[in-house]
Amino acid sequence: MAPKGKRTKADPEQPVTRRDFIHILAGVVGGVGIGATVWPLVDQMNPSADILALSTTEVDLSQIEVGQSILVVWQKKPVFVRHRTQQEILEAEATPLSDLRDPQTDQARVEKPEWLIMVGICTHLGCIPLGERGDYGGWFCPCHGSHYDTSGRIRKGPAPKNLFVPDYVFVGDDKIIIGTTET
Ligand code: FES
Repeated sequence: MAPKGKRTKADPEQPVTRRDFIHILAGVVGGVGIGATVWPLVDQMNPSADILALSTTEVDLSQIEVGQSILVVWQKKPVFVRHRTQQEILEAEATPLSDLRDPQTDQARVEKPEWLIMVGICTHLGCIPLGERGDYGGWFCPCHGSHYDTSGRIRKGPAPKNLFVPDYVFVGDDKIIIGTTET
């Protein structure tokens, strides 16, 4: 019997399909792979902090349907933008902080419950996790088996921290700017 709150239908071994992500290459990276891809963390240290601080990415949310995710690039990093389902929101909000390795409420991780925006780099060793996978129906990192929940919080496996939520701001209902809190 599956532990309470866990999903069993999400299978980490399930092959990735085209509907998992719509890739929007909004940055300087020429392509973003799905799967056990290790993001080149060292490269992020090359540009000066001043230059990176100026970099923002604008995302049009109007075409992202409920239950769909897109991947955008911000400051050379992959960022997941997920339009969460009601079930995902309810599961994330109902999780007790005592169940979490890196305790953080779902409310603290979102501006609006239906939109989850996170840097898509596993906090273990930098792979890109797969969406809608793993024991908690969120993200699964196939490199060493870290499971994140529908709020991107680490629940199982070697990763020490939740997926990072960057600064972003809503500009109207259908647009966000990642990398700033000011409009
Ligand atoms: S890099 Fe994700 S589990 Fe190791």
